[in-house]
Amino acid sequence: MRAHNPVAVVLIKNARLVDPEAGIDGRRDVLVASGRVVLVSERISPDEARRTPERAEGADPLLLIEGDGLWLWPGLVDAHVHFREPGFTHKETIRTGSMAAAAGGYTSVICEPNTDPPIDSIELVRRLAKKARAESVVNVYFKAAMTEGRHGAKPTDVAALAQHESVAALSDDGDPVVDPAVMEDMCREAARADIPVAPHCEDSPAALQKRAAGVLSGFEPDAPYTNEANYVKRDLELAARAGCRIHFSHVSLARTADIIEQFRTTRNGAPAATFEVTPHHLLLCTGDFAQGEVPGVNPPLRSAQDRDALQHALSSGEVDAIASDHAPHTAEDKARGASGLIGLETTLGLVLSHFVGEGKLSVSDAVRLLSASPARIFGLPAGTLRPGARADMTLIDPRLSWTVNAEEFRSRSRNTPFGGWQLRGKAVATFAGGEEVYANPAFELRKTLWEARRS
Ligand code: DOR
Repeated sequence: MRAHNPVAVVLIKNARLVDPEAGIDGRRDVLVASGRVVLVSERISPDEARRTPERAEGADPLLLIEGDGLWLWPGLVDAHVHFREPGFTHKETIRTGSMAAAAGGYTSVICEPNTDPPIDSIELVRRLAKKARAESVVNVYFKAAMTEGRHGAKPTDVAALAQHESVAALSDDGDPVVDPAVMEDMCREAARADIPVAPHCEDSPAALQKRAAGVLSGFEPDAPYTNEANYVKRDLELAARAGCRIHFSHVSLARTADIIEQFRTTRNGAPAATFEVTPHHLLLCTGDFAQGEVPGVNPPLRSAQDRDALQHALSSGEVDAIASDHAPHTAEDKARGASGLIGLETTLGLVLSHFVGEGKLSVSDAVRLLSASPARIFGLPAGTLRPGARADMTLIDPRLSWTVNAEEFRSRSRNTPFGGWQLRGKAVATFAGGEEVYANPAFELRKTLWEARRS
């Protein structure tokens, strides 16, 4: 992310601050100086704010934001996005992806490594991290590949990759690691380097091809892909044996969620196992679409029973995070069968409308799932607005009604399955390191510059 503007002193007044990590859900004033939260209190006067010792030299005047009627959340954290650099910049770039993230209320994202070339070397991580610092408006992290070239044959240099501050986890996203021996080796490396693994537990075209060619052992394939639960079960065992942390991406089947839950309750002292779900698996099912028109995504959309079971897991507190799996593709690539759906600009609105709005999730649980918990799982400096935290913040109007229109997206791609959906609740301003990186054009945020009162 670009260096923030050091002159910013921002006072947000009277917003409903929802920060479960700090145990807060109530009206607060929040003071930000030099990119960090300085003070959270029931009342902070502008004069007091201007006298804050954290104010950078020359940081004048003070920006005052009236937060009445708005919710203030720690910036959202998306643990699963595809920004397509290097190799597929016609679909998305770090720059356009970061702008889509900010528009959706996100201030931190973790990018998947299924790029061309894949993110499997420390040299490429360094180059991308530098590019992200120059071009992104939000904090960008990466999952480095688990295996060289994402070929599933040889673990990457996990020790070197894990040391880089931008590498949050390991994944061969897009493909499972079919060979259990390779997966186990990689898990041992990850345990040594103390970095979580986040496998893609489902067949993929590449995995099926390898199996058909007799190259690797694997699970009996079926159509549509049905090996999610088999891979999850196997990887839970391997991770437990190796002693590494494991986070499962985009869980889509009722029985997979059950397996993870059972493992967690029966394995005392086992390494942490966590999982995420996507808005599309939570809200859509194959029955919603005519034959041949089901949006292509991997894992595929499932049955209404699976969708309902995921919703139940969400409201009963079993799910650890909601991730968009923002997977941009051009219309031409989608027509040729590319799988994946975008979600950075719709996830918050969907969660607010369909879960919080319908009483299935509390506001504070929504913050946990969209910010605090993914930050914790991946060890990111995010997910709370306690004093001292980086001022990554999202101001939300919970009453703002809007219609999803992909033509208005900041993303370079348009492949949303939610076009035309009527939603209620949206980010109206997003701040990364105290700097406003998104302002909703349909909303007039009440902002004033507070001039010095000379006495
Ligand atoms: O549908 C998907 N699209 N699933 C994946 O695992 C990869 C993703 C992509 O990169 O487009």
